[in-house]
Amino acid sequence: MYNFADDLHQTQQRINHFLAEKLATDTTPSPLAEAMRYALLLGGKRIRPFLVYATGKMLGANLDALDYAAAALEAVHSYSLIHDDLPAMDNDALRRGQPTCHIAFDEATAILAGDALQAFAFELLTDAPHLSTEQKLALVAALSRAAGYQGMCLGQSLDLISEHKQISLTELETIHRNKTGALLAVALEFGLICSPHFGDTTLAAQLQAYAGAIGLAFQVQDDILDIEGESDVLGKTVGADLNADKSTYPKLLGLAGAKQKAQELYQSALVALEHIPFESQALQAIAEFVVNRKS
Ligand code: IPE
Ligand code: IPE
Ligand code: MG
Ligand code: MG
Ligand code: MG
Repeated sequence: MYNFADDLHQTQQRINHFLAEKLATDTTPSPLAEAMRYALLLGGKRIRPFLVYATGKMLGANLDALDYAAAALEAVHSYSLIHDDLPAMDNDALRRGQPTCHIAFDEATAILAGDALQAFAFELLTDAPHLSTEQKLALVAALSRAAGYQGMCLGQSLDLISEHKQISLTELETIHRNKTGALLAVALEFGLICSPHFGDTTLAAQLQAYAGAIGLAFQVQDDILDIEGESDVLGKTVGADLNADKSTYPKLLGLAGAKQKAQELYQSALVALEHIPFESQALQAIAEFVVNRKS
């Protein structure tokens, strides 16, 4: 019988061990490397790596290749969190249950740690074993698109200019699909690229239907937890969105409306999985986790 809690725990152990090993300690000691380790290694649910492994394993990918892909994605995600917390962005003091990077170190070091984690991600992708040059290029292309000006960075920029504003539900969906959905969706793409099914466009579209639903659901739940989460469980300051007057799902739909939206997205994710001709227990379970999580 598939046990999601065990699978998540084992995945967290595996990726944590791999990241710690890859982020070399034998370099010139510097606050930069320390800040990178602080932000990358201390905490985090490792949901994006879980999605990479779950998809890759489902499709028969090599586990060693998946380590590199999952680690690269987590490095970009961690960079996005460091920058998201900066005074010029969300100005947050708590992340993964500890002081944010710019508080534990200083602002310049935090900015550079984010920059360097992004570069580190692409280095990992080019180093990945058991993959063809075409597969590695596809990983690099997918991550660049998801992280950049048509993905995460776009969403972050729209998020910031939408503070203190009344925006439409369509505009909010665009923000969330980009700032958060893009990096979650690329996890599924990574699993496919690393597998023998690389290049199967039908399967790619089926996976993306699922990914789109959980990507948006993830941020809807994040918005909900900003209101009814508990800071010590969440590891972040509750009420940060209200404080900054962010555009969020609860702001536009109310708390009950946002919860209903999350459940609808969960159902569409399950429907999308029904079209995938592989054993998708892990993807079903993580979809449920995404909308019911407390941290
Ligand atoms: C937080 O992501 C930022 C969002 C995109 C909502 P996670 O909730 O996955 O954060 P960690 O990695 O577990 O800390
Ligand atoms: C962050 O959204 C998305 C990214 C970091 C790309 P939020 O600003 O809502 O994330 P939290 O709540 O600070 O984790
Ligand atoms: Mg933000
Ligand atoms: Mg934030
Ligand atoms: Mg949030």
